[in-house]
Amino acid sequence: MQNFEYHNPTRIVFGQGAIARVNDLVPATARVLVLYGGTSAKKNGTLDEVKAALGAREIREFGGIEPNPTFETLMEAVAVVRREKLDFLLAVGGGSVIDGTKFVAAAVHFEGDPWTILETHGANVTGALPFGSVLTLPATGSEMNNGAVVTRRATQAKLAFRHVSVFPQFSVLDPTKTYTLPPRQIANGVVDAFTHIVEQYLTYPVNGFAQDRFAEGLLQTLIEIGPKALAHPHDYAIRSNLMWVATLALNGLIGAGVPQDWATHMVGHELTARYDIDHARTLAIVLPSMLQVRRDSKRAKLLQYAERVWQITSGDDDARIDEAIARTRAFFESLDVTTRLADYNVGADAIDGLVAQLEAHGMTQLGEHNDVTLDVSRRVLEASL
Ligand code: NZQ
Ligand code: ZN
Repeated sequence: MQNFEYHNPTRIVFGQGAIARVNDLVPATARVLVLYGGTSAKKNGTLDEVKAALGAREIREFGGIEPNPTFETLMEAVAVVRREKLDFLLAVGGGSVIDGTKFVAAAVHFEGDPWTILETHGANVTGALPFGSVLTLPATGSEMNNGAVVTRRATQAKLAFRHVSVFPQFSVLDPTKTYTLPPRQIANGVVDAFTHIVEQYLTYPVNGFAQDRFAEGLLQTLIEIGPKALAHPHDYAIRSNLMWVATLALNGLIGAGVPQDWATHMVGHELTARYDIDHARTLAIVLPSMLQVRRDSKRAKLLQYAERVWQITSGDDDARIDEAIARTRAFFESLDVTTRLADYNVGADAIDGLVAQLEAHGMTQLGEHNDVTLDVSRRVLEASL
């Protein structure tokens, strides 16, 4: 196992009715900015519930954080926090709202151009306002990690940052709040969480026995409950498991002490930035071809994945790997998440531009061996047509 340090300070408050606990979790004297997305949190009553829990505290609201939150919108929230002298942020929504809140938290007292937070991937962050979250969409794991992804509309750049100061202080996970999610977002959540696990598991063996078994268990749980989450939107057992699996998929636990890949995510981010394809759908497009193109360096783990996750035991090594990749693609498709660029009207003529974007963003040595060069990314995109 590789050396590691693991610290996760986020308190998780899980279960039906948990939003009431916001009253104990936010300091009594806090001046709070409640941040949310479009209309969902208003329509389904979550926002009202949160405001009721905040009681007599001084609060302001900032709505309109878009999916794939933009720097431009978030800077408006930064201005509100500064103007109103607010000192606590509360995100109500999915990954986009939580990520956006992380950026606002880091930008409020930042000296200099806040976009450099993204350009340096967080290296120049010195602190952040405290914040919590009320999660309404199980997918990203943002509720229990210190990463965030922000898009600059003007330049179509979608960049990530991480910093120790942007772990949420707490996250409230009430599975009943997911009941209003449309099937498209539930399917996205399953695919995103699945890919987060794969990015940390499907690299090369380092004797991380517990991490491997944990990752395999989470993958198998998603395979089992993904279709059920779509078929039975009000099944509390299914939704609570989906919510907790998605959190565990990216709260650092399964990635501690093992190599990590993340090339699929970085290529996917360029697809979202340029063609506005949902984050999870970009992963469904890229992951199967990423595994296919890099099958030699991932060989040992692909065979382990085939056997332990998909119970593929017959055929020679290459046939088992082919089948595991095919089953992965079929799983995504079974959730109605299509896996080819052509399904999103993106053709071969797009590839030069995407590779140029990867280059402009420094994504030239991706993956667990830093060997995913622009040429490899190009081959992956070509295999995804
Ligand atoms: O905006 P509203 O009206 O609230 O609607 C949202 C949005 O349109 C809707 N929604 C959320 N909760 C709902 C609901 N609709 C009905 N009922 C509810 N309970 O869902 C839509 C999508 O929301 P969004 O927050 O964009 O989705 P998701 O949670 O998938 O977040 C995606 C973003 O997270 C980033 C992605 O790049 C993308 O920008 N990621 C963040 C990561 C992290 N911080 O660790 C890791 C991920 O890999 C990912 O990159
Ligand atoms: Zn993701």
